[in-house]
Amino acid sequence: MKLWGGRFTKPTNELVDEYTASIGFDQKLAQYDIQGSLAHVEMLAKCEIISQADAETIKQGLEKVAKKIEAGEAELSEINEDIHMNVEKLLTDEVGAVGGKLHTGRSRNDQVALDMRLYLRDSLVTLVDLLAALQQALLKQANANLDTILPGYTHLQRAQPVLFAHHMMAYVSMFERDIERLRDSFKRVNRSPLGAGALAGTTFPIDRHYVADKLHFDGVVENSLDAVSDRDFVVEFLSNASLVIMHLSRLSEEFVQWSSAEFKFIELDDAFCTGSSMMPQKKNPDVAELVRGKSGRVYGNLIGMLTTLKGLPIAYNKDMQEDKEGMFDTFETVKGALALFAPMVETMEVKKDNMYAAVAEDFSNATDLADYLVNKDLPFREAHAVVGQVVLHCIQENKYLLDLSLADFKGFSDYIEEDIYHVLAPETVVNARDIVGGTAKNRVEDQISNAEQRISDTQSWVKTYEEKVNVLKKASS
Ligand code: ARG
Repeated sequence: MKLWGGRFTKPTNELVDEYTASIGFDQKLAQYDIQGSLAHVEMLAKCEIISQADAETIKQGLEKVAKKIEAGEAELSEINEDIHMNVEKLLTDEVGAVGGKLHTGRSRNDQVALDMRLYLRDSLVTLVDLLAALQQALLKQANANLDTILPGYTHLQRAQPVLFAHHMMAYVSMFERDIERLRDSFKRVNRSPLGAGALAGTTFPIDRHYVADKLHFDGVVENSLDAVSDRDFVVEFLSNASLVIMHLSRLSEEFVQWSSAEFKFIELDDAFCTGSSMMPQKKNPDVAELVRGKSGRVYGNLIGMLTTLKGLPIAYNKDMQEDKEGMFDTFETVKGALALFAPMVETMEVKKDNMYAAVAEDFSNATDLADYLVNKDLPFREAHAVVGQVVLHCIQENKYLLDLSLADFKGFSDYIEEDIYHVLAPETVVNARDIVGGTAKNRVEDQISNAEQRISDTQSWVKTYEEKVNVLKKASS
């Protein structure tokens, strides 16, 4: 008989059991479900809703169930629909009818919302930690390439030279925003919905704050209807994770380009590439490509969740069971990508000479010739036109700016003097961008030391959380 079978006259159709069950995927929540139940049962005893002795029996039973599930020894069945009812069934098998007291003052509706939040807050911290590790790998490359100059591109056309370190630091900034977003969303995830009951609260004199404190939440979700119907935190996560994978996908695209024979700017380590079954010479940047590809499913999970929620009336609706697979999948996908990216970045070989050669063979110092004339008091618009003429001349002559003689330069403007060769050298061009956030070496060094500080703040945030929550994990395993 089903846990809720009292008002039914027949068994459920087998296809209905199969179709409505979530145990196939929500068993991932088992340890969180038990953590929540341990806190709930302690609270029931403290509030004298059940006896201390019953609470003790239930707690010991739950601990046994947790161990059995962890060891893969528990039988989880579709007949019991989801992880919540499977755990309750295993508990009563273990301790008898007293196990049935556990669900006093609670519904699966607030229980599932709690489990989702417990799962997600761990996941957020894991991703933040991995993002910080990736930032460190990028920082290592930045530190090692403070003198590596490559063309900076706009429209994928060579534009102005930049330090490779500067390019790496752009990604550090992108991932820093990701960390900020995840940390900010943590505040909204880290609230306890337990006590909301099915939707309206409960008649028992429970203590919601006690449970919230036990589980290290920062507080409760106040309105009981909102507590069971809110999945904003899932949407927020899927959205923040979409930005993470979008950033990884953009970096992937650069790696794919840079490792092509056309660019030859980097070589990814053999350990992070794969070969071809037919062409013996091939070395493919599969990891980068696959991360770029997987951004599709991560965005899909976001759109799926938004669509599922859009027409739902308050409070819980079965549609909401669809919140889980996308969340799990997004977490695993992004976690996998981040775990690979840090070592892939760290081990890649940066081909400094090829980057420098690309800078020498282009007009990415043209803006500096215009700025030079502006410093001689020519209006920028006129200077732009003069340099345009110089570039056109060079293209026709198959030359670059630094190939021109002083007489050639003077043919375009009398203002140009011998110092122009120094001004147009790639190192000078880079170091001339000596403003906050510019590509001048000293400014990039500033960026690096600012980022280092923020990364260490992130790491101590992660550590504080882990120390707190490990206590919980020990209690439920
Ligand atoms: N398995 C359900 C879910 O994932 C748990 C909540 C079910 N509540 C209910 N009243 N049917 O959403």
